[in-house]
Amino acid sequence: MKQVRKAIIPAAGLGTRFLPATKALAKEMLPIVDKPTIQFIVEEARKSGIEDIVVVDGKNKRSIEDHFDSNPELEDNLRAKHKDEMLKLVEETTDINIYFIRQSHPRGLGDAVLTARDFIGDEPFVVMLGDDLNNINNNGNALTKELIDSYHQTGASTLAVMRVPHEDTAKYGVINPSAEVEKGLYNVTNFVEKPDPKDAPSDLAIIGRYVFTPEIFDVLAKTKPGKGGEIQLTDAINTLNKTQRVFAHEYTGDRYDVGNKFGWIQTNIEYGLQHPQTKDELREYIKNLGAKLSAEDQKKTK
Ligand code: UTP
Repeated sequence: MKQVRKAIIPAAGLGTRFLPATKALAKEMLPIVDKPTIQFIVEEARKSGIEDIVVVDGKNKRSIEDHFDSNPELEDNLRAKHKDEMLKLVEETTDINIYFIRQSHPRGLGDAVLTARDFIGDEPFVVMLGDDLNNINNNGNALTKELIDSYHQTGASTLAVMRVPHEDTAKYGVINPSAEVEKGLYNVTNFVEKPDPKDAPSDLAIIGRYVFTPEIFDVLAKTKPGKGGEIQLTDAINTLNKTQRVFAHEYTGDRYDVGNKFGWIQTNIEYGLQHPQTKDELREYIKNLGAKLSAEDQKKTK
């Protein structure tokens, strides 16, 4: 069986939920405290044994390329001032096999994945969405590593899912599981895009990490635009599932949705509470804020 060595990070979306910040700035460069979200993804890929990464980018995404490039002027300056820790942080992001491909029109996630076909060739690969972070404080397993381990057992395309509150199913792609073949690994009848809670076949939501066999490319090439006029990855997965087994792997670790404003703020707080330079002050601040908000609430109820 071929090993999973390559990853696609689709990053060509318009990021409309973060306007106006994303008018000129790539959504993937929004920081969690001091680290751009895409750097967490790249670190997860490397921890999971990925050797080559391709980022599918679009307009306004040059900052992503610059972030993973060297910056000799900055590096010389830090070296001259003996700021060794900072220099290490800057240099860490350049020693990576990372490549960039343009998606000329944002025709959907399925189209973004298809754009990277020549880079991947005839081997299994992972897709990692920048909106979803997991295990940011390194106290559990990287989700991509779990998926790759699962692939090496089954040889089948596998999606990551997580249990979500039933009323939230309309925010996600949801699986219709037919059987739990082993703990946390499901056979799937079909995948449903953003179902109304009353129609949702389960509470297991797709969370932005996938491992695919290369056959997905032939399917994507034939997939017609679906919801929103975009080529939907979920449609292609449904088609693939008719000719090959597709599994869902349930993740039970920490997961953060940084693609919406509240999730992004929440992630900053969680990460800030572990970060050596912010944790003490932030903890104190949250305690004081909590007390202030309770006092305000009490006043309101009087
Ligand atoms: P989203 O649906 O989150 O879209 O895409 P978006 O444009 O990034 O954000 P909003 O909803 O407008 O705020 C899911 C993932 O697919 C990528 C995005 O970059 C994101 O990682 N994508 C989406 C593409 O690469 N190309 C596309 O045409 C669409």
